[in-house]
Amino acid sequence: MIGRLNHVAIAVPDLDAAAALYRGALGAEVGAPQDEPDHGVTVVFITLPNTKIELLYPLGENSPIAAFLEKNPAGGIHHLCYEVEDIIAARDKLKAEGLRVLGDGEPKIGAHGKPVLFLHPKDVAGTLTELEQV
Ligand code: CO
Repeated sequence: MIGRLNHVAIAVPDLDAAAALYRGALGAEVGAPQDEPDHGVTVVFITLPNTKIELLYPLGENSPIAAFLEKNPAGGIHHLCYEVEDIIAARDKLKAEGLRVLGDGEPKIGAHGKPVLFLHPKDVAGTLTELEQV
């Protein structure tokens, strides 16, 4: 059911340093920082030939990644995002399989303007998992 790996999101304590690392030493195509106030993050998109990396940095009070960075001060992988064709059908199938959907269970518009849902990490091999309808 899940399709392509859409992105790997990495929370970082220093966005400029992480962008410089990917642009410089790793030689990747790195975009400009974008504030996403609805999601409480500033994001830098990195385009790779087969997927994307998203560097996440807290924006504003109550950022969803602030607690993650407190526990992981050097930063780290925050979530994976898989593409699905029909997010409602995917949600209903996964709920029937016993996986928990975070929040109210309804898709929200994600950082790319498309509907997304998050699955509880304890139900997905310890990994916070995002589904994005493409
Ligand atoms: Co994401």
